[in-house]
Amino acid sequence: MSRRLFVVGGTGFVGQAVCRQALAQGWAVVSLSRHGAPPRQANAPPGIHWVRGDALNPSTFAAHLHGCSAVVHSVGVLLESNYKPLANLGSTQAARQNPTQAASYEQANRDTALSVWRTACATPGINAFAYLSAADALPGLDPRYISTKREAEGVILKGQGEGVRPVVVRPGFLYSSDRPVTLPIAAAVRMLGVAVHRTPLGCLLKGSPLEKAATPALNRDVLAAAIVRALDDPHVKGILEVADIQRLGSENKKFIY
Ligand SMILES: NC(=O)c1ccc[n+]([C@@H]2O[C@H](COP(=O)([O-])OP(=O)(O)OC[C@H]3O[C@@H](n4cnc5c(N)ncnc54)[C@H](OP(=O)(O)O)[C@@H]3O)[C@@H](O)[C@H]2O)c1
Repeated sequence: MSRRLFVVGGTGFVGQAVCRQALAQGWAVVSLSRHGAPPRQANAPPGIHWVRGDALNPSTFAAHLHGCSAVVHSVGVLLESNYKPLANLGSTQAARQNPTQAASYEQANRDTALSVWRTACATPGINAFAYLSAADALPGLDPRYISTKREAEGVILKGQGEGVRPVVVRPGFLYSSDRPVTLPIAAAVRMLGVAVHRTPLGCLLKGSPLEKAATPALNRDVLAAAIVRALDDPHVKGILEVADIQRLGSENKKFIY
């Protein structure tokens, strides 16, 4: 069986790592994003077939799904404003060119996923679909961030009968050494986790927003390894919470970190 992976958002923070991990595990990789190939100076591994298209518009990508055996959807926004260029985070090209236009939670987190999911289900040969959702780990964020994720999850998980195995991954905060700004935040999350789970103070914090915020931060490359492993293992399906991702992504030492 051919192992050809279609990564929606393969130029993004998570998508890039998924592409790199999949290539290292012998997959052929196709990446879809609105800008296609990343800028030349980007640290993208060679061997990816870059496709320019919009996940909201199947006519721009449906033909590229043919011959693929699995899909990863790695598109989403944390805020409905163009925070990424300011913080030098992630997908910046569109935001730079269109500073007043940011996607809504509904479009970015839910509709892009359902558009790709429905197109994938109608494409013969696709047997697994991983959706990048999120843990409810950020108190104070607009609740539509998580509700739109949960809406997409609901449709994708219900579609199991269609022959495409759904995997929903719910990471909390992600860190990586190639994005230094994430490292002190991850350290703060770790300290909060100790306070909540390993000190007497923790009893007072149970059920509080701080308990949510103590959801363990994950190494972005461990997440990518977990996703690629999940796609390769027909027994993995349904929702992967932070602990499942950590276990699955750390199990196989052959994975690259
Ligand atoms: N980063 C975290 O800490 C974190 C934590 C938990 C969950 N997540 C989830 O992980 C996923 C990926 O996050 P990320 O941080 O990697 O985001 P990112 O860096 O902003 O990457 C988003 C990717 O999606 C592409 N994209 C955006 N809109 C598109 C569209 N309409 N059609 C096709 N491609 C599109 C972007 O490229 P173009 O701009 O060129 O289209 C880019 O490749 C999201 O669902 C996010 O909610 C992230």
